[in-house]
Amino acid sequence: MKINKYFVIDFDSTFTKVEAFDVLADISLKDHPEREHRKKEIIEITNQGMNGSISVRESLERRLNLLAPAKKHIGPLVAVLKEEISESFKRNRDFFTTFADHIYIISNGFREFIEPIVTEFGIKPENVLANEFRFDQDGQVVGFDTENPLSANNGKVELLRQLNLPGDVYVIGDGYTDYEIKHSGLANKFYVFTENVERGSIIPKADHITPSLDEFLYLNKLNTVISYPKNRINVLLLENVHPVALELLKSEGFSVETYHAALTEDELCEKIKNVSVLGIRSKTQVTARVLEQANRLMVIGAFCIGTNQIDLDAATKKGIAVFNAPFSNTRSVVELAIAEMIMLIRNIVDKSVKMHKGIWDKSAKGSYEVRGKKLGLIGYGNIGTQLSVIAESLGMKVLYYDTEEKLSLGNAIKCKTMKEVIEQADIISLHVDGRDSNKDLISTQEFGWMKKGVIFINLSRGHIVDIQALRENILSGKVAGCAIDVYPHEPASNDEEFQSALRGLPNTILTPHIGGSTSEAQENIGNFVPAKIMDYINTGSTSNSVSFPNLTLPLLENAHRLIHIHENVPGILARINHILANHGINIVGQYLKTNELIGYVITDINKEYDKEVIKELRGIEHTIKFRILY
Ligand code: NAI
Repeated sequence: MKINKYFVIDFDSTFTKVEAFDVLADISLKDHPEREHRKKEIIEITNQGMNGSISVRESLERRLNLLAPAKKHIGPLVAVLKEEISESFKRNRDFFTTFADHIYIISNGFREFIEPIVTEFGIKPENVLANEFRFDQDGQVVGFDTENPLSANNGKVELLRQLNLPGDVYVIGDGYTDYEIKHSGLANKFYVFTENVERGSIIPKADHITPSLDEFLYLNKLNTVISYPKNRINVLLLENVHPVALELLKSEGFSVETYHAALTEDELCEKIKNVSVLGIRSKTQVTARVLEQANRLMVIGAFCIGTNQIDLDAATKKGIAVFNAPFSNTRSVVELAIAEMIMLIRNIVDKSVKMHKGIWDKSAKGSYEVRGKKLGLIGYGNIGTQLSVIAESLGMKVLYYDTEEKLSLGNAIKCKTMKEVIEQADIISLHVDGRDSNKDLISTQEFGWMKKGVIFINLSRGHIVDIQALRENILSGKVAGCAIDVYPHEPASNDEEFQSALRGLPNTILTPHIGGSTSEAQENIGNFVPAKIMDYINTGSTSNSVSFPNLTLPLLENAHRLIHIHENVPGILARINHILANHGINIVGQYLKTNELIGYVITDINKEYDKEVIKELRGIEHTIKFRILY
């Protein structure tokens, strides 16, 4: 590509995430008694230099005095710096090779460690402009080349003047000395680079803020690897989702905003207009009205199991993919179920209550082991199956009923009806989903089928059990022990009183919907959902989406990926292919899947295409959303 632009790039905190001197300090001062004190001082001096409050030479001299570096430290320093290259630089290696003649690295750091790093990206050694160490015969650094302009104030400006580049000059950097080049009139533009550090005093002086190299390339139409800079994708995370999710999405380069609580419908209607990725938990209601305003929204991540809080049909019709975390807290629920069945069959709850009142009631009456008992599972999905395996390892016999055909794990016995399970079980545990038809699944009739003295557990959904019928059966002694975690009506917040006909009943464990609430589960969710979101944005993959037809796609190599979401009407695929054929475009791969509402077509085409094609594809009638990846 022929261009008339030169790119002047800073090294410390721009090309690499870190300041090389900070890393050098860890190496050269490794066993030094004043190590921590000196490191702190070095950071302070670096910042003073960056802000322009001390001279470059003073900064260099003072830091080298503290560092006492030697030749032997350079190799280990380079090894660490290679691991610390800025993420967006790594993503855009192509840029450096394509424009090698036009790229200069200019740094007040030292050639000895800069050159080995940047030349690996295709940057020419002669285009690396930096200071040089002076060593004594033992290899100890005794100073630096003081003739080099970069060792003095205004060094970058001076060097640029000498270079006299025959075109526009764009400077990318994070510090004051980078800004100086623009200020002196030697650069056309200064792009402050904020991926690694944000220096408040420099940002206002820049022509553009570039949170990543992607943004710089996009602004200058030089992007060859990334279709759209990630920092332009706004992510809104509500309801205190786990910090690991924030970290993952940030390190991917997205602009992420977080809020500790849910937003009201009105607030969300306003906020959603600029949001491309929304992360919520169970309290935020994503209604059709909210979605009407969500013109940039591509994907919703529900950082929980349930998705009832989202109008899934409305989201799908708008071409918004929804992902949740269906198995992230499975294990937590299973552990609680196991713990509760043991507590209940030993009558521990009543015994504990008595002890707190000072009553010593030592007796084995009404206390049993779970080993050898029959556990009846209603619902054999993610949780039911895992509970089945663990219960068997405790020596229980497992019976289950599921409306779907499910593979029995271990020695579990499948029953044809729910009644069959209920009649035989010593312990009954419910693990069905919350579909409307499951309301009062367990009511007077079903309690009637149960064995006397049964243990009854519901950690699934509240409306599945008729609470009045349960109360009567506890009071009559039919149900000898009961654990409930979910209720037909649950308080909206911790400030509201919990009201239930189950309060005060014997051998009854009541918990506030915490079956899946463990740190491990929250962290699992925090990892799982962002992975789904990033996969969807980066590859178009929709595996495990609750709203979109599920497609798992191969990684894209040397091709463009066209992602077309349309209303599910016949003939769209034919029209897409017709347009591509008309333009003589070669399809390297194509994937189509539909559900009742939408069709999802992925077409991989070879590199060259005419912008007109994109216009035509976008213009196909019934198109909901269209995007290109490359
Ligand atoms: P899942 O969807 O994997 O399994 C549910 C199973 O129930 C499916 O196999 C389905 O075919 C079956 N089913 C539905 N209706 C049925 C019926 N009437 N009779 C028999 N089988 C029926 O769900 P998963 O992940 O196992 O979760 C189970 C339940 O646990 C859900 O209701 C979920 O909301 C709840 N849950 C509760 C938590 C808590 O904090 N207490 C945490 C996590 C999940």
